[in-house]
Amino acid sequence: MISGYVRRAGLVDVLGTYGRTNVQGETQQKLDVIANETMKQAFMYTGRVCVMGTEEEAEPIPIPEQYNPGKYVLLHDPLDGSSNIDVNVSIGTIFSVYDRKTGSGPGTLEDCLQKGRDQVAAGYVIYGSSTVLVYTAGHGVHMFTLDPTIGEFRLCGHDIKTPAVGKYYSINESYYQRWSEGYRAVVRAFKGVEDSEHRKNARYIGSLVADFHRNLLAGGVFMYPADSKAPKGKLRLLYEAAPLAFVAQQAGGVASDGVTPILDIQPTELHQRTPLLIGSREDVAFVERTVAEVDAVAAT
Ligand code: AHG
Ligand code: MN
Ligand code: MN
Repeated sequence: MISGYVRRAGLVDVLGTYGRTNVQGETQQKLDVIANETMKQAFMYTGRVCVMGTEEEAEPIPIPEQYNPGKYVLLHDPLDGSSNIDVNVSIGTIFSVYDRKTGSGPGTLEDCLQKGRDQVAAGYVIYGSSTVLVYTAGHGVHMFTLDPTIGEFRLCGHDIKTPAVGKYYSINESYYQRWSEGYRAVVRAFKGVEDSEHRKNARYIGSLVADFHRNLLAGGVFMYPADSKAPKGKLRLLYEAAPLAFVAQQAGGVASDGVTPILDIQPTELHQRTPLLIGSREDVAFVERTVAEVDAVAAT
């Protein structure tokens, strides 16, 4: 349904701003709101979910008694990459599923604040040159492409594994002045400034789902570090970092905040942010090691 809206953007009135800002303080795009409403409608009445948490709403959405609250918790970023909507660049939907912790009835914030390691399923849909669903339920990562001629998702990747060393590095280099010396050293190494041992190709789309998906398949490392303006980074733990960290882990990759594995972080707020370093395990290890060494020296 969301793919249908995305692919008709410009033809139907779904472009531009909605005229409100969300809890993130970001101007909501019309497609953000449409995607959020579509996700709520799709899961409100299934009897499988007891509470939903969404990037677009400040508070969790408990499923009322009359809709038979179920045993799962659903957290989602209904539309990731909003800045790319009106310029026809890939965007996506990210989702994260937990077992409920509270007994019965409508779910609560407590049900939403669980460590990423306790996810029972996670994944994303990317609205790119094709519409692709990637998910894991803890038994490998599997990929499906929407076949528009039959309206079904068809398996196109079973038990995907991400390369240990990747082809790409992804970071918004316009923030160079805000980074620590450690991240500057890492990016110089990826550019091959001193030597070509760690040189990689640069790819940064500005949609986390698209940057993550390319690196998952081709190998690479995505970095959104904390910086002088965003001391906790920009990306959100519960519905961006944690679900993608679960997918990365199941594909043989890793994700951390630079120090702590994303899956081990205990959330305390629904919309809390985290620095994110995610992708090929040897590349992530190189970044963690280099940042630790360089920032330790810079601190003395
Ligand atoms: P969202 O559109 O859901 O707010 O997410 C946008 C995020 C993420 O998709 C992307 O990696 C990041 O914002 C890009 O941020 P910068 O423009 O600061 O690089
Ligand atoms: Mn997002
Ligand atoms: Mn979003």
